[in-house]
Amino acid sequence: MNGAWWQRGVIYQIYPRSFADANGDGVGDLRGIVDHLDYLNDGTGRPPPAGGALGVDAIWLSPFYRSPMADFGYDISDYTDVDPVFGTLGDFDDLLEGAHSRGIKVVVDWVPNHTSDRHPWFTESASSRDSPKRGWYVWRDPAPGGGPPNNWRSSFAAVGPAWTFHEPTGQYYLHSFTPQQPDLNWDNPEVETAMHEVLRFWLDRGVDGFRIDVVYKIAKDPELGDNEPGLEHDVHWPTIHDRLRKIRSVIDEYDDRMIVGEVYLLDLPRVVEYINSGDELNLAHNFVFVHLPWHAAAFRASVAEFTELAETSAWPAWFLENHDHSRVATRYAGEPGSGPRRARLAAMLVCTLRGTPFLYYGQELGLPDARIPPDRVVDVAGRDPERAPMPWLRPSHAGPGAGFSTAGPWLPVVTDAERLCVEAQQQDPASALAFVRELLRLRSGERALQSGSQRPVDAAADVFCFERRLDQRFLIALNFSSASVPAGLGDDPDGAAVLELSTDPGRARGPVDPRSLVLGPDEGVILRFPAGEAATG
Ligand code: GLC
Repeated sequence: MNGAWWQRGVIYQIYPRSFADANGDGVGDLRGIVDHLDYLNDGTGRPPPAGGALGVDAIWLSPFYRSPMADFGYDISDYTDVDPVFGTLGDFDDLLEGAHSRGIKVVVDWVPNHTSDRHPWFTESASSRDSPKRGWYVWRDPAPGGGPPNNWRSSFAAVGPAWTFHEPTGQYYLHSFTPQQPDLNWDNPEVETAMHEVLRFWLDRGVDGFRIDVVYKIAKDPELGDNEPGLEHDVHWPTIHDRLRKIRSVIDEYDDRMIVGEVYLLDLPRVVEYINSGDELNLAHNFVFVHLPWHAAAFRASVAEFTELAETSAWPAWFLENHDHSRVATRYAGEPGSGPRRARLAAMLVCTLRGTPFLYYGQELGLPDARIPPDRVVDVAGRDPERAPMPWLRPSHAGPGAGFSTAGPWLPVVTDAERLCVEAQQQDPASALAFVRELLRLRSGERALQSGSQRPVDAAADVFCFERRLDQRFLIALNFSSASVPAGLGDDPDGAAVLELSTDPGRARGPVDPRSLVLGPDEGVILRFPAGEAATG
């Protein structure tokens, strides 16, 4: 047994507004995704030729449900319909069918912590203090001296307090994000049941799993105690585990489904609580990883800490980009030229560590953040740069929509779209796209890289090196500095190795002596050792 699909495969996140616009309104849609499925995986199962499919195994779609778009879809007014800007339920069914026929699993976003303030549940809840849905949200009288009931803050700094006063009924309501995103009251069993029904709606339709938005927030102190140093009352309350077990049991009513949670808690002991017991989440997004400084020692230590804390049965997940964070090529840019190289190194890291890799659309192109002029800013929390439209074609002949849209795109594409677009990279064997395609091809053909054991290996201070082993043995060596460094691998009992892949397209493949290996600036390599031993797990 080589693990479930969500353990073996690579999951690719699509931000539907920004992937491909089929109906020419400047905003991406479901039909646009359908049109580009062959780019993701053509379903032939053959090693892709140059210019062939990327080879991802699953897609995760950020929300496409009905929404007033105060938070671009994370404010949902109908959980079981598609927003007209993205298409229809029929388009979703076509997407599901098109993906499944190519062997691509489909994971959708589930946003249980809050709805839109225009969701009928909230309008009903806000209609009077006696509304039967009053208790579906968190309403409280002002503090004794006036003002918000406690010191909780919105996760968006620009919003300030997590409470908004509602004049007509004279109470405050809680919102962990914008005032247009009132928090549901998960202490109310009716809310829990209703949200489980949302899961079943999409499971019945055939989705393969869910990414659970801000899952650590669906359990808060019911007494609404003030946050205090060392104890946050508005996240990760002990009730979380029971709630997760119930969610998991809904998922387990169906075969072979998966839940991955956004566990935005910046300490690993709390993160692993979500996966260690085996009956809560299947996977947890680890944001500690995203916040690490770009040093080999930091990544080495963080992987070691995770491995130490996680039960052997718990399966890791790794990512370095998503729709809420500056892209790697920008975030980790050091010396000139290092950003694009580091984007490749980051892709190699997440795709070779033991666990499930998540890539964010455009990461395979090494996209940097886009420059957003002040008059084009639309997001309340400064996240437009990493949400720029996918550049498919050269703007010099496709126009400013770069093949994403025939209309003006809702956000500008990256400055260098002419060189970074899919069209330009597709046929170039030295491109980031060619590299990531090759990386995924290698991974998909090697059980050792999918499910083999992992062990850290001594190397130079700037080099993070680890071994993956099952029926074959691989070493992955990643140079986090922008200088050439001897890898410092020392004597290997298996002697000679074969260099399978480098982030540097100029590096020759073939036999190498690991002892004399020198890594170039920001270079990562995958070495295969011929003397792989029998599988030991
Ligand atoms: C999550 C999403 C983010 C959204 C927030 C509120 O953090 O990833 O994009 O703004 O939840 O739903």
